[in-house]
Order: sequence, then C-alpha cells, then structure tokens
Amino acid sequence: MAPSQPRQPLAEASIRIDSHLDGSHERSLAEDVLDGLTRPFKELPPKHFYDARGAELFDRICELPEYYPTRAERAILEQSADELSTLTNAVELVELGSGTAAKTRVLLDALDAAGTLERYIPVDVTESMVRDCAEALAQEYPGLRVHGVIGDFERHLDRVPPATGPRIVAFLGGTIGNFPPGSRRRVLRQIARLLGPADHLLMGTDLVKDPRVLEAAYDDAQGVTANFNRNVLRVINRELQADFDPEDFDHVALFDPHNEWIEMRLRARREHTTLVRDLDLPVHFDAGEELRTEISAKFTPERLQGDLAAAGLELVRWLTDPDELFALSLSRLSSR
Ligand SMILES: C[S@@+](CC[C@H](N)C(=O)[O-])C[C@H]1O[C@@H](n2cnc3c(N)ncnc32)[C@H](O)[C@@H]1O
Repeated sequence: MAPSQPRQPLAEASIRIDSHLDGSHERSLAEDVLDGLTRPFKELPPKHFYDARGAELFDRICELPEYYPTRAERAILEQSADELSTLTNAVELVELGSGTAAKTRVLLDALDAAGTLERYIPVDVTESMVRDCAEALAQEYPGLRVHGVIGDFERHLDRVPPATGPRIVAFLGGTIGNFPPGSRRRVLRQIARLLGPADHLLMGTDLVKDPRVLEAAYDDAQGVTANFNRNVLRVINRELQADFDPEDFDHVALFDPHNEWIEMRLRARREHTTLVRDLDLPVHFDAGEELRTEISAKFTPERLQGDLAAAGLELVRWLTDPDELFALSLSRLSSR
C-alpha cells in the first residue's frame, strides 16, 4: 500500500456479520403463534419480544431500580473477570443472546488486559443489536475481530464459527431461565457441543429469593416491563398482519412457588376476537383469559448442577454477588 493511501478503518476491516434468519424468523413466529395461540392455555416463547423496540425496552428494564439482576451480574463480573480470564486463557468470546453486550465489556477488558483476546462472536436474534454491537466493539477494542451471527440460538448454533483457541461461551442475563426444565437441558446440550476440552461456559442465573423482590423486578412502578410484555403483540401485528390492541391486555407477573419461576402473562381486559390475517387465524380471548409470554426460572446451586450434569458439563466456579441475588457459573465438559 502506498504510504499516502489512507488506511482502511479497522472497524470495517475486522467485522463480519452472518445472518441466518432471512424469513425463517417470520416462519418461526408464524409457527409459534399458530401453535401457542390455539392451545387451551395460550402461550408464546419470549424470543419474540425482541424487535428493535423490544430490545430498547429491555435495556430500559436493566436500568430500573427494581431490576436487580443486571446490577448483580455486573458486580460479579467486575469482581471475577480477572480470575475468569486466568482460568480460561480465552482468545475468543462467543456470546449467546448478546443484546447490547453492556456487561460483556467487563470480561472483554480483562481478556484484553491479559493479552489473549482476539475475537468476539455475538449471537442474537435481533439484527440491529448484532450489527450495532459489532460496530461499537470493533471501535472500542482496536485489533478485535468481531464475527456477528444473526440467528436463533435454539436453531443456529451449528453456524457459530469453529474455535481458533480456548474460548468462553457466555450466556448472560439469566436467559437460560426462560426455558422450562426439559427444554433447558436440551439447549444446554446444544451449547455444550460448542465446547472443546479447553473451553468454558459462563452462564448467568437468577437465584431463588423472596417472591416480593422477584415480582417487583418483573412489575416495575414505571410500567416499562408492562410495555415490554405488550410488545410481543405489536410484533405479531406487524409481522403477521394481526389487529391486537395492546391496551386490551393487563400485564401480570407472578412467582410460581412450586416451579420456582416467575411467569409473565397478558390478561385480556374484555372478551374479544383478534384476526391474525397472514395465518387466517381468529384468536378468541374470554375476559380475564391469560396468555403466558415468559417464564423466568430461578435457581439454586443444586438445580444448576443437575442441569449442567444432564448436559455433560461440570461446574468449575460458582460466583455470586455479596447479597446472593444472582450467580455466574463457569463450567466445562465433564471429565467423566
Ligand atoms: C434477557 S436479554 C439478555 C441480554 C444480555 N445478554 C444481557 O445479559 O443483558 C435476552 C437476549 O437474548 C436474545 N434472544 C432471546 N431469544 C433468543 C434466541 N432464541 N436466539 C438468539 N437470541 C435470542 C434477545 O434478542 C436479547 O438480546
């Protein structure tokens, strides 16, 4: 290159983004709506909250006084990032459900300071999140290669590029708690396939605690979580030509003490029928009928270890914040 020629900005040179959704996400929404809204107890999986507006609302939730998980998980990362870096020697970080990667920077800083960090691989179903976060991180960490994967971590983990050295697969934010026990173990088994003998899984899980604290975290005074919950209806309206009025539904968050999980629901304020035009599907709600939009399981160390073992993983470190609100677990493929 001639000395006078301007250098290509590093941010452009070091980013690669692969998208695996291309219409398949709409198909998966259609299948989930068809399946979930025709059941005797209506239900939708939480991944459909996250269009650009849903992702922005989730970011606002993370700042709310009632929503302790983000602050607690960040505190654990700040206290343990150097130890995690030393234990793993990771040259790359794969992050599932990466969002804005706000807390991830704490870990990236530690790997960067240790001089091992080479590549970051964010995986998220929200395209704008992957693109924006890849741009931002390539700017913030000169020399970092960012390989974004726009996809569904339940369906596209085989598209995660092969490891180039010891890797950490991070699954933060308690997102694993969105799966009921059987599916949770299936997802963990799929994640375990991303790991080789030198690799680790770093996973955030919310812990069992006073139900009042839990319910407040999912039903904030400002109504941001209620708005986030109703966003799934706006997504269906836009993607499948439906005519839900989000204001026809109340936000409900309750702790189920038997299953030890939070449930978010939308409760119809009045009897009505909505047409989902793309599916030619009328959906009837009785007054007071509920649609379950999310479960968020809460963990004990024993529950987590059982799930890890079922996926062929063993615990290396169990890290909590001083108030034991939240936990980060570091695990690896089981040696047995
Ligand atoms: C609870 S947020 C957590 C975000 C971030 N990791 C954090 O800890 O703050 C869940 C994230 O996972 C993404 N997500 C949810 N379901 C997904 C799926 N099936 N495949 C890929 N990403 C998904 C959402 O778009 C969102 O960014």
